[in-house]
Amino acid sequence: MPRSAFLPELMWPFDMDTGTSFSVSRSGDLDLWHAYADADVPVVTQWDDGAHTGADPGRLSTSSASMPSVVARMLRDLDVQPGARVLEIGTGTGWNAALLSYRLGAANVVTVEVDEAVADAARARLSAVGLHPGVVTGDGLLGYPDGAPYDRIIVTAGVRDLPYAWIRQTRPGGLIVAPWGTHYSNVDCVVRLVVAEDGRSASGRLTGAVEFMKVRSQRHRVDQTAYLPDGFPGDAVTTVTELTAADLGLDDRLRHPFAAVAGLLVSECTLLTDRRGTAVSAWLYGLTDRSWAAAVLVDGQVGSTVYQSGPRRLWDELTRAHQWWVAAGEPDVTRFGLTVTAGRTNAWFDNPRSPLLLQDVENAG
Ligand SMILES: C[S@@+](CC[C@H](N)C(=O)[O-])C[C@H]1O[C@@H](n2cnc3c(N)ncnc32)[C@H](O)[C@@H]1O
Repeated sequence: MPRSAFLPELMWPFDMDTGTSFSVSRSGDLDLWHAYADADVPVVTQWDDGAHTGADPGRLSTSSASMPSVVARMLRDLDVQPGARVLEIGTGTGWNAALLSYRLGAANVVTVEVDEAVADAARARLSAVGLHPGVVTGDGLLGYPDGAPYDRIIVTAGVRDLPYAWIRQTRPGGLIVAPWGTHYSNVDCVVRLVVAEDGRSASGRLTGAVEFMKVRSQRHRVDQTAYLPDGFPGDAVTTVTELTAADLGLDDRLRHPFAAVAGLLVSECTLLTDRRGTAVSAWLYGLTDRSWAAAVLVDGQVGSTVYQSGPRRLWDELTRAHQWWVAAGEPDVTRFGLTVTAGRTNAWFDNPRSPLLLQDVENAG
């Protein structure tokens, strides 16, 4: 089931190293277009919820064909068996729905896409390869109750809150595979939840770090100016940190274990970074009040000035989280998991029966 059958005439491969996209058109350079269609890179297919026109990349990528190796990893986590009924959230190009339909029969596959034009294009491309799964235009956070119960739900857009509807629409013992994360960064962790026998909760481990575009209603932007109405440094107090950009994984968020784990340990906080040459500015913003912290971390230098303001000392929280993580043997995300019940998501470490208590992290060191 070639990915090229699901890609448009004009597309924007995403370069993972530089974090930038560039346009490739089928009619302009057929060989190049096919090379990217078959490469292990994400390919953006829509910008700015469809408001963007022209060949240059837009501001925000809002639909794509995911990186094939990530698609394969998540399908492996999904562990589909013949006869299983699957709901996919985030149809995008329709390629993943095609892979599932090819494997399970299109009658067993339903996929939900929030964007009408994207859903229409996917339906047409699926039809062109002779596959007719249910393609529903709607908000996937509601699932698709008309087709429930499902044996599997696979989500291909990042979420910050896991909707309880997905648990209610999955059979006991069924699986939900979704890119989930906190507002700490754009990193998502694939979570593989098993629905409990009573159908009321689901629990499972994180299987690895990835980065997906977020579901429409859970995109998040911090208005930095609101934190510093009188300019920098305002009433900030200063301290010195021994943490470096390398310790925090600031340049390698998908591979550095702490970069993905930190979001589980420091609650209600967003990290924004800006690298210029050998220095990274790191800013932390509290999401429940106007606390902020900032430091400029120069490569190879231990001992940088930290500015902190507001009721929370966010850099101190990050430092304690790092100390806890080092003392725990520098675990990666696969040692952590989630348990989701109505209205609540609890993270745990190693043992699903012992929730990760943030006060333990707070008291570290
Ligand atoms: C990374 S793409 C999905 C890739 C797709 N599975 C494929 O095979 O090409 C994410 C998609 O999720 C869609 N999306 C965003 N929020 C959504 C929501 N609330 N419900 C359903 N789809 C949503 C986006 O419009 C986008 O098309």
